[in-house]
Amino acid sequence: MTTVLNIENAHKAYAEVLALNGVSFAIEASQIVTLLGPNGAGKSTLIRSISTLDTLDSGAITIGEFNVAEHPSKARQQFGYAGQDSALDKVLTGHEFMRFQAGLVHLNKEDILGLVDELLERFKLADAAHRAIETYSGGMKRRLDLAASLMHNPKLLILDEPSSGLDYESRRELWKLLLELKLEGTAILLATHDFEEAEVLSDKAVLMAKGNLCGFAAPQELCNALGEWIVGVSLSPHPHEGDREKLAQLFSDVPGQVMPENPQFAEYAMALPAGAKPDNGADWGEYLRQKAVSQSLKIHALAMRRPTLADAYLAATSEVNNEL
Ligand SMILES: Nc1ncnc2c1ncn2[C@@H]1O[C@H](COP(=O)(O)OP(=O)(O)OP(=O)(O)O)[C@@H](O)[C@H]1O
Ligand SMILES: [Mg+2]
Repeated sequence: MTTVLNIENAHKAYAEVLALNGVSFAIEASQIVTLLGPNGAGKSTLIRSISTLDTLDSGAITIGEFNVAEHPSKARQQFGYAGQDSALDKVLTGHEFMRFQAGLVHLNKEDILGLVDELLERFKLADAAHRAIETYSGGMKRRLDLAASLMHNPKLLILDEPSSGLDYESRRELWKLLLELKLEGTAILLATHDFEEAEVLSDKAVLMAKGNLCGFAAPQELCNALGEWIVGVSLSPHPHEGDREKLAQLFSDVPGQVMPENPQFAEYAMALPAGAKPDNGADWGEYLRQKAVSQSLKIHALAMRRPTLADAYLAATSEVNNEL
């Protein structure tokens, strides 16, 4: 396997905010890695540092063989970047913008026109190529950004929330394009808040909170590490004061991790480790029902499901938030 991007112990502080606190991970060719984390986790700071738009206080980022701080212009030839806010100049047409971008990455004049047409075609923008970008829909602008970032056939593609603001069809189109690029060998790092996107695309996901890396693994591994089942109990359709304390008492001898509050699922939920069984041999759902009866506690709903990437994210990031 070829390591395309390597991040070692990245630190970055802005005044009082520690935006990156010792982040390390690597991406191989043909791998998609998603960056997941709440607002302010440090995703964009990391992406800007990789893209040479910002510098680390300490640590090292290498793309291929180039350290981005020591050889920024060589590093820039290795990656394509589309930021969180589109940098498109709206007065230009799509075609003009692509030609301008081609000039920035120093492509041969003879190659430019053919390549621009090919990319506009691939990203379904050929019909709109000679219209001003200000007339494009949000999805078209995102596709143009992506087309421009691929102009120099980079081995690494870095995308900051590429699907934000896109409708479901456009997001699925984007995912298809990214999976195609992955199959062609491109390594992709993308920040997202969309768990479906992360489930569909990620070979591995990075979980970040308050500048810390709190997980880096395949989505299924992150789910397995959290537990085999999530069991949730509600005492009423709408939470009442004191319910969580009663439920904490009900769950007191159940092994596993208490999940952060998620009223959509249950008033109180725990992630249970694989293989653990209650003493009476029942399953945990049955055990909790019997225990509730013995305590004269009336259960409104009891649900069991497999952990999702969103559960792994919530558990990992809330742990960091509570600790710091
Ligand atoms: N230029 C800056 N000056 C001061 N503070 C900054 C700057 N850039 C980022 N920060 C701070 O660093 C922290 C990380 O910000 P960052 O933009 O990397 O988060 P993010 O994970 O991308 O969040 P979001 O999901 O909202 O895009 C935040 O607390 C932010 O306020
Ligand atoms: Mg951001």
